Amino acid sequence: MRTINVGLLGFGTIGTGVVKIFQQNHQLLSQRVGAELKLTQIVDLDITTDRGIAVDKGLLSTDVQSMLTSPEIDIVIELIGGYEPARSFVLQAIRNGKHIVTANKALLALHGDEILPAAEQAGVDVLYEAAVGGGIPAITAIKENLAANRITSVLGILNGTCNYILTRMAEEQASFSAVLADAQKQGYAEADPTFDIEGVDTAHKLALLCSLCFGTHIEFEQIFTEGISKITALDIEFAREFGYKLKLLAIGKHNGDMIEARVHPTMVPENYPLAKIDGVFNAIRLFGDFVGPTMLTGFGAGMDATASAVMGDVVSIARNIQAGIGSRIPPLGCPMSELAQYSVKPMEELVTPYYLRFTAKDQPGVLAQISGILGKHNISIESMIQPHRHEAEAVPIVLMTHDALERDVRNALSEIDELDIIQQESLMIRIEENLD
Ligand code: HSE
Repeated sequence: MRTINVGLLGFGTIGTGVVKIFQQNHQLLSQRVGAELKLTQIVDLDITTDRGIAVDKGLLSTDVQSMLTSPEIDIVIELIGGYEPARSFVLQAIRNGKHIVTANKALLALHGDEILPAAEQAGVDVLYEAAVGGGIPAITAIKENLAANRITSVLGILNGTCNYILTRMAEEQASFSAVLADAQKQGYAEADPTFDIEGVDTAHKLALLCSLCFGTHIEFEQIFTEGISKITALDIEFAREFGYKLKLLAIGKHNGDMIEARVHPTMVPENYPLAKIDGVFNAIRLFGDFVGPTMLTGFGAGMDATASAVMGDVVSIARNIQAGIGSRIPPLGCPMSELAQYSVKPMEELVTPYYLRFTAKDQPGVLAQISGILGKHNISIESMIQPHRHEAEAVPIVLMTHDALERDVRNALSEIDELDIIQQESLMIRIEENLD
């Protein structure tokens, strides 16, 4: 039986999961590939910490060059994360003819324009199933099973940390900061959660999904990104009263020559399938012109689920090697030369209903002043709640608008926030009704 050699770069949590799969399912993997799939080397700066699994010491090394230049290694699994040195290592491995499997969404979202053409030129694969939605097999489904469809929208809950925090805030009427602190204590949130809670991680993933679904190259910087740190339990409660759930949604839409690519807290109708995805679960829902609406859900993070996606990619490449074929499916679903150019719709041109929360003094004429400014900016009110919930002298005023232009909403809020009666910065949350 032929041997296909795999090098693992990065022995952290996901790397440990990968080693576990190699150990536990070694025979199964080789049976499925028809060749021996062998973990030949593990490189990490730290090779002494106990990862809770027994590893042959001969496999461990701190010398990355010994892996990147080894003529034996066929596939490099990059799990070190971040931009550098991951970028340099991946490019060097590609130049040396090695196939790449990575879970690094940040790397591909920012340096895909360099890495993917380099791989195409070298005739090697770069597979990244684990980069979006952890264990959910969305990337392969889009590239292969849905290849006959024109995909017009892709919406996702792509960050388990945010979904967990929003779910607990809803269930416990707890504050964002209290739930975040507890999630960090329990290991559900990173010590520095900025990338997660500010939507950056979700935007990295959406850049990849939009590129793949719409046959283009969307840069991470083109995606409007707003996180969940300003959301209060009160907003979640008001959303419920209006019949919505609040999610951090990644939204990609393709219409003509225009792409919408945005990440922000979003109110979705409570009976919509994505509204029912709670806790650490992720989900990706897309609409194809022939398949219709399709949703995939599962664990978006965690050692075992993410390692499952990584090893699925390893098996896929090993099967190609075994069949004697090189890179068969382009990383973005079509050859780089066939990628289309689209404009990304400026956020100010978005038209959608909005949830607006004002914190105002409780005195006569307040509503008239607010609604007067909204009317002046062409914003029509659909419904309103003024609950009896005073915070000192202030009272929340919450309303939903009909479809409005984002530019008008921003201008109206700036003007309203200048009023003496307004006690703190007003908040707007976009509502998504047009979900397919
Ligand atoms: N930090 C991510 C999350 C997982 O919370 O979902 C890795 O992408």
